[in-house]
Parts: sequence; structure tokens; C-alpha cells
Amino acid sequence: MNPRPIGVFDSGMGGLTAVRQLRRLMPSEHIIYFGDTARVPYGNRSRETLLQYARQDMRFLRSFDLKAVLVACGTVSANCLEDLQADGGVPVTGVVEPAAARAAETTRTGRVGLIATRASVASGAYERAMSRIAPELKVTALACPLFVPLVEEGRCQPGDVVIETVAREYLAPLKEAGVDTLILGCTHYPLLQDVIGGIMGPGVQLIDVGGEAAAACRNLLAEQDALAGQGTGSICCYTSDRAANFARLASLFLGEDLAGRVEHVDIAQY
Ligand code: DGL
Repeated sequence: MNPRPIGVFDSGMGGLTAVRQLRRLMPSEHIIYFGDTARVPYGNRSRETLLQYARQDMRFLRSFDLKAVLVACGTVSANCLEDLQADGGVPVTGVVEPAAARAAETTRTGRVGLIATRASVASGAYERAMSRIAPELKVTALACPLFVPLVEEGRCQPGDVVIETVAREYLAPLKEAGVDTLILGCTHYPLLQDVIGGIMGPGVQLIDVGGEAAAACRNLLAEQDALAGQGTGSICCYTSDRAANFARLASLFLGEDLAGRVEHVDIAQY
């Protein structure tokens, strides 16, 4: 048993969708979350910039005595995970491998779709992970850059004409490719599950990368006999921009109120 906290970071608040899954699977764990809201979005940035930001985010998190880190950000996971793991010090789990493994297990036709940010798609990380697990699978990957701002504007309900129009256009090539499994490779996309599911139809299984990564993190801790055990867990959030703004939007992603549990951090110091 190990009561030390799990660190989670993301470019902003979206990573709270993964924290929601962590809290569902491991309600006794203590979680320290960092959202880099002063520098969001990460999704269009170069690998060099992403690695610089991710290392600062890790350095801040490692100022706590953590037992593990979950990189909730799809963009950082796809571009920098190996570097962060090589930096050492604490076990680091990303979202790509667990989601690729689940997709390989789920698909019946061998045709898998991926939607994510531009930098995630450009990294080719999912294709590499899939080819290691099941080289016969065909992956169709598409960037959907308008999804993040639309979710943050609350345009995520089925029937909302703006999100429905954008989503239909983005998803058309995936429907054409005949995928039967679709990886939602970005923190914000679980909020679009109903919209995307409605367009893709009931024959397509949607994979939530945050949920798969949370399960992988739980398995890792269980293997190391490092779960927190009994008791009520907690969550403490840090943001590089205004704490009040963070707390206001956070409940959309986390499904719980964070009032009084968000603090500002000057990430440039790390
Ligand atoms: N958190 C990012 C991801 O999952 C999406 C938002 C951004 O572009 O920073 O890729």
C-alpha cells in the first residue's frame, strides 16, 4: 500500500476527464493536477516546445512526493512520453499505448479510426503503437482542431447545429473508411461522445483514451502493490493562469465542483 499522491497534467482543464476516470476507478487515491492554462493550447505546437513545456510541468509535479504520473494530455503523450519516461524518477503513463491496445482488442474489421489534435496526429504515435501490437490493423487518423474550442464554449450537445455541422464534416472520411473502432485521442472528446456516436452510428465503438490510461495507471500501481487502500481520496488542482477561471470551467470536465481546491502556480519558475 502507498498513500502518496498521483500527479496528472494537461495543457489545460481537459485532462480532468482523465481524472474523472481515475477517481471512478480509484476513489481512495490522492491526486495532484496541473493544468497549463496560461499556455494552452498545446495541440498545434512543435515537438521542441511541447517537450520544454512538458518537462516544466513534470518538474512542478515532482515538487510533490508522487508515486506515479499520468500524462492526460493526448498531445504530450503522443510527442514526448518516451523523453519524460527516460528522465526517470517516477513511473509515467501516457494515453497512447493503453488506447491502442484497447482498439486492437475491440476492432473486428481491422479498421481503426483516430481523431486528435494536429500535433498528436502528426506524431504518428498511434500508428507506431498499433503496428507493434497488431501490424495488420489499418489506422485512419484525422486532426479535428475545432473540437477543443467548441467544447470549451459549451457546444457539445447533440442537436447543437454548430458542433453537429463541424463533426459531420470531420468524421465523413472515417465513415467512408469503414472504421468500426474510433479512438477519441484528446482530453476534450469524451464530452462529444454523444455527438460523435450519433454520427458514426451504433456499429462503431468509441475508445476514451483517458479512461484507458486511468485503468493502465491502476494496473501499474496494483502490480507494484502501491494502491492507496481504503479511505477517501482527494484532488488538489494547480493552474498557470487564473484559479477562479479554472474552477469555473473545471466542473464541465470533472463533473464535480472544485471551488477552494485550485491554486495558481508560476510555471516559468520550473
Ligand atoms: N489537452 C490537449 C490534448 O489532449 C487538447 C487541448 C490542447 O490543444 O492543448 O491533446
